[in-house]
Amino acid sequence: MAHPGLLVIPLLISLSLPGLHSERCQVNEDQKPLEIRLLELMIGSYNATATPNPSTLIALRLAREHNLETERSMVKRLKDDAVKRVQTSADFSSGLVALYVMALQASCEDPRNVSALNTTIDLVQLLEEKYHQELVNIDEQQQPLTNYYQLGLDIMALCLQNVTVNVSIVLDTTCADKKYGHGKGFSVDTAAVVVLGLTCVKKRGTLTSEETVAVADTLRSLVQKILQEKKSDGVIGNIYSTGLAMQALFVSGDYCNSSQWNCTQTLETALNAIPEGAFDNPMAASQVTPSLGGRTYLEVKGLDCANDQDNLPIISTPAPPPVSNLSEITVSLTVVDGVKNTFSYSINLTVPEGCYFLDVLNEAQRLQPDKFSFTVKDSLWGPYLVSINGLAAVNNEAYWQLKNGDIPLDQGIGSYKPANGAKLVAIFTSL
Ligand SMILES: *[C@@H]1O[C@H](CO)[C@@H](O)[C@H](O)[C@H]1NC(C)=O
Ligand SMILES: *[C@@H]1O[C@H](CO)[C@@H](O)[C@H](O)[C@H]1NC(C)=O
Ligand SMILES: *[C@@H]1O[C@H](CO)[C@@H](O)[C@H](O)[C@H]1NC(C)=O
Ligand SMILES: *[C@@H]1O[C@H](CO)[C@@H](O)[C@H](O)[C@H]1NC(C)=O
Ligand SMILES: *[C@@H]1O[C@H](CO)[C@@H](O)[C@H](O)[C@H]1NC(C)=O
Ligand SMILES: *[C@@H]1O[C@H](CO)[C@@H](O)[C@H](O)[C@H]1NC(C)=O
Ligand SMILES: *[C@@H]1O[C@H](CO)[C@@H](O)[C@H](O)[C@H]1NC(C)=O
Ligand SMILES: *[C@@H]1O[C@H](CO)[C@@H](O)[C@H](O)[C@H]1NC(C)=O
Ligand SMILES: *[C@@H]1O[C@H](CO)[C@@H](O)[C@H](O)[C@H]1NC(C)=O
Repeated sequence: MAHPGLLVIPLLISLSLPGLHSERCQVNEDQKPLEIRLLELMIGSYNATATPNPSTLIALRLAREHNLETERSMVKRLKDDAVKRVQTSADFSSGLVALYVMALQASCEDPRNVSALNTTIDLVQLLEEKYHQELVNIDEQQQPLTNYYQLGLDIMALCLQNVTVNVSIVLDTTCADKKYGHGKGFSVDTAAVVVLGLTCVKKRGTLTSEETVAVADTLRSLVQKILQEKKSDGVIGNIYSTGLAMQALFVSGDYCNSSQWNCTQTLETALNAIPEGAFDNPMAASQVTPSLGGRTYLEVKGLDCANDQDNLPIISTPAPPPVSNLSEITVSLTVVDGVKNTFSYSINLTVPEGCYFLDVLNEAQRLQPDKFSFTVKDSLWGPYLVSINGLAAVNNEAYWQLKNGDIPLDQGIGSYKPANGAKLVAIFTSL
């Protein structure tokens, strides 16, 4: 161990040996405008007074086109917010800290030295503490404080900061279903983020030979599970997890080959979903744009900020003409406590066409406040449903699952637009 560098060199050589390499595709010149459209959407969504979204900053930094003024403003906002959260002991989960660390690193800022509001904080040290608390909680309660998606982000962000991370908890795949579960299915997003984190750890070359074998086994297993979620059109999981899955497969050439995955097909399917508005949520845009450019989160390390092109001007898009006469649609809303069956509630509603699930909930509450009430909380994805009639989601135990008829929704209440006749369901479900 006196000369760790010696251990690194053979590893680098072995990485460059010809082997199975999955391709890393990216948009061509003709497809570029679709990627640019999402970059502009993220820039346009930036609101200097709202809670910042580190995921959009990471995506903008990983792109080849930049609007440097907006990015600088986002960096400042992010630093202010991080310091404020620490000062006021506000909500700052491990995975969110990890995203802040990666966003600052991607901006060539030192996350160990974050100065704002006359204070300097070390976000990497904070992340180490948060990750440690996650491990303690797993030890004591058999589950993390947050979830395995956030643990994957923690591992990735710490590794990219050269911190040696104890990854044993994600190597133990005995309860893979619980860790990567998502309702009842396998969570491609979680697996993809863990693959990226473990790939970074593997590349650092600080693992013991025993750990190296366990990491390789875990990566092989997760990559095959991700591939099993590939649909015939190339979507992996659902359209929102496809971008993260692509990133994971980009770095997993050792564990999959081109006969198992056609990168170009997946890319084209993702691009085709852009004009349909699938990525109009800035968070959704931020998770797909790196892949469209053939990039991964692991590249937040070593970006050459000094040579950024400032070539993405903000084009002020004219506001859409006011829709004078919105047609109305009829939807039903059914709410069920599917865990203890303490209540169920149903209402038929008339709402404007193009409104969101959230508007339907608001309308029900407006009409029958004594029978129906709900609360929401903000997240990077927008508002999510916390409680209905006082029955609240419990982390890792139960949540309000949303459906249209029998089909679970893959969008949140702030993004999903019901069609006429939609049978909206919110059912309290245990994990
Ligand atoms: C920006 O965010 C603030 C706080 O959430 C909100 O009040 C304001 O309306 C937003 N501005 C725009 C232009 O969306
Ligand atoms: C922290 O950043 C400030 C400027 O923001 C700089 O003056 C200082 O030298 C940095 N400290 C370390 C330890 O890098
Ligand atoms: C920072 O310190 C300066 C000088 O001590 C003071 O005038 C200013 O109000 C402080 N700002 C904040 C945000 O605390
Ligand atoms: C991590 O280590 C590498 C190699 O020693 C070094 O080039 C890089 O600057 C380090 N990065 C950080 C964030 O400490
Ligand atoms: C890593 O974490 C596991 C589980 O929390 C623990 O059992 C193990 O001792 C840790 N390993 C090291 C080297 O700290
Ligand atoms: C690709 O991987 C699959 C599954 O591991 C294997 O069956 C197949 O032979 C591989 N194809 C090539 C060309 O290596
Ligand atoms: C991959 O998909 C693209 C786009 O659908 C298609 O044109 C191409 O033939 C496919 N390649 C292989 C090897 O199947
Ligand atoms: C709006 O639509 C209603 C019903 O479809 C119709 O009766 C009304 O005349 C329309 N108003 C305008 C201003 O177009
Ligand atoms: C909603 O409308 C459907 C179809 O018209 C009807 O069967 C159902 O009883 C209505 N539900 C409520 C709660 O009024």
